[in-house]
Amino acid sequence: MKVVIDNASVAGLKFWFTGYVRSFRSSDKELQQNINLKVSHTKRVCTQIKNISNKLGLSTDESALAEIIALLHDIGRFEQITRYKTYNDSISEDHAELGIKILQQHGVLNRFENPIQDLIVCPIKNHNKKSLPVDVNERCLFFTKLLRDADKLDILKVVTSYYLRKKPEENGMVVLNLPDTPGISREVYNSLINRKTVDIKLVRNLNDFKLLQAGWIYDINFQPAVDIIRENQYLEMIRGVLPESKEINAIFDIINSTAL
Ligand SMILES: [Fe+2]
Repeated sequence: MKVVIDNASVAGLKFWFTGYVRSFRSSDKELQQNINLKVSHTKRVCTQIKNISNKLGLSTDESALAEIIALLHDIGRFEQITRYKTYNDSISEDHAELGIKILQQHGVLNRFENPIQDLIVCPIKNHNKKSLPVDVNERCLFFTKLLRDADKLDILKVVTSYYLRKKPEENGMVVLNLPDTPGISREVYNSLINRKTVDIKLVRNLNDFKLLQAGWIYDINFQPAVDIIRENQYLEMIRGVLPESKEINAIFDIINSTAL
């Protein structure tokens, strides 16, 4: 299947996105701040996905499709934060599934043929799952990998800058309001030592959450994304904001020997 996406579609969807987000405007300062955070995240994921697409030599149309997927991937976040006041899917709703419902309700993808619609919906549905889908076609898998890498790169940028400048009054939603208690969970340790990504359900405190993000290195798909992690020293920054401990040293020994 040849992907054909005209520029007007990308521009039209950006226009729709702006209007849709505006409908969530709120006088609640914290809520508005969290909405703005997701808008900026979305814009940076769009830039990052285009950057990786270029490095991988994708065609202009494929790159435009990747940008559309990035633009719409977190569309469920605005309703989620407004309705549930949290970005934690496990205590609210899966934001990817919610996003797909919203795209359908608003007929956002009606301008595309069915195969293209599927190719947009499938990566969005799978972008926030613990691991890559096994039951999808090769095209969907490719764009899912691309979106997951671009998304993770931006989350790493956001959380590392948050960890480094954290003040008590800072917005705790970035870290799901997890408690900053000592130690790490045994299950988190076991996953990472076995070179596996961490299931968010195992995360009990901020240390676990930082380790989960370091463990994303086991779930990065494309070399350009690995290079960006290395250049920005995200893993070193995460290590720097974790306590000294034998277990954490052992985890980072394995991460560093495996990943880069
Ligand atoms: Fe995202």
